[in-house]
Amino acid sequence: MILVTGGAGFIGSNFVLDWVAQTSEPIINLDKLTYAGNLENLATLQGNAKHLFVQGDIGDIELIKRLLAEHKPRAIVNFAAESHVDRSIHSPEDFIQTNIVGTFRLLENARQFWNTLGAEAKANFRFLHVSTDEVYGSLKQDDPAFTEENRYEPNSPYSASKAASDHLVRSYHHTYGLPVLTTNCSNNYGPYHFPEKLIPLMIVNALAGKSLPVYGDGQQIRDWLYVKDHCSAIRRVLEAGKPGEVYNVGGWNEKANIEIVNTVCNLLDELRPRADNKTYKAQITYVTDRPGHDRRYAIDARKLEKELGWKPAETFDTGIRKTVQWYLDNQQWVEHVQSGSYTQWIEKNYAERKT
Ligand code: NAD
Ligand code: TYD
Repeated sequence: MILVTGGAGFIGSNFVLDWVAQTSEPIINLDKLTYAGNLENLATLQGNAKHLFVQGDIGDIELIKRLLAEHKPRAIVNFAAESHVDRSIHSPEDFIQTNIVGTFRLLENARQFWNTLGAEAKANFRFLHVSTDEVYGSLKQDDPAFTEENRYEPNSPYSASKAASDHLVRSYHHTYGLPVLTTNCSNNYGPYHFPEKLIPLMIVNALAGKSLPVYGDGQQIRDWLYVKDHCSAIRRVLEAGKPGEVYNVGGWNEKANIEIVNTVCNLLDELRPRADNKTYKAQITYVTDRPGHDRRYAIDARKLEKELGWKPAETFDTGIRKTVQWYLDNQQWVEHVQSGSYTQWIEKNYAERKT
């Protein structure tokens, strides 16, 4: 079996659902269930013997030690993290704790467990660390896309904490020989995306008749990948990646934020027109920029394609249409995640931004 951490979050739950659907191998899912973790994402797995959910922290040394000794997974896939840049600006401490200290403790537990294995199991074991393109910093308009050789230049407490975790993972390979793999992926979108991030926030705000807050001039560029394609890339790297290697994951889909917001509005105009038949674009509002806002990310995913034969299945057009449709079909999921602490966060992040 494999152990996945953070499997109740956005990407992790998509990975778990796909894993259970596509393989017969059991999966243990360890998740702390922070505000971003949601068991509703995994509701279809209730009673499924291939999926074991455990609530807990990757930094809980005794818990992880027990789980590893009991279940003897052949691999660990580490999704668990604090993941939202704006939250890292307001409260960086949680990011240091989970992304750095938590990853360190998970690695240390993995190393001790790995040392108890026989030669064959030791050689076959994998620790796959799921990371982000944001560790490479910000690109200028004409810079080439990030390759695995780019320098780390993280600019936010989030990306700095992910960069630190990537370095720890690397060091566990070079120092102890732990068979690690690291993936650095571009921005994901798709089902179960928590509506604090750009795309789901725009969809849910549009439908609720609220403003669509675009930071700064809206010309910042992100490189978007449909979440299921990220999951297939992780499965491929787990299967065939070379221990110690880093793989960039992306779909060559650079878009300015304002273009994303306009696309979401166009799709909603088509699929769920406003009662007054005006366009949802009328709700777009430019607001105060994010401090230290990275201008452009772009991923060069040629290594993954050439060496491991991975390619995304979705284009941006097909993926974004599926995503908007998913939110239209899953209004109850949206209502549930919008209760309680979500409202406080929206208040905190947007109340002080001038329009
Ligand atoms: P998310 O915030 O939706 O989910 C994170 C999950 O981790 C949640 O279920 C949360 O409960 C859990 N978690 C948090 N702290 C924990 C802890 N200490 N112990 C155990 N579980 C804990 O994040 P996501 O968007 O699904 O991202 C998953 C991973 O992928 C992260 O490592 C992130 O850095 C990376 N990543 C995300 C993107 C993206 O666009 N979302 C892109 C590239 C890489
Ligand atoms: P986000 O989804 O938070 O991902 P990241 O910061 O990790 O790339 O933001 C994506 C882009 O959208 C980023 O440039 C910030 C911008 N953005 C807005 O313009 N308005 C918003 O309300 C949010 C949440 C993000």
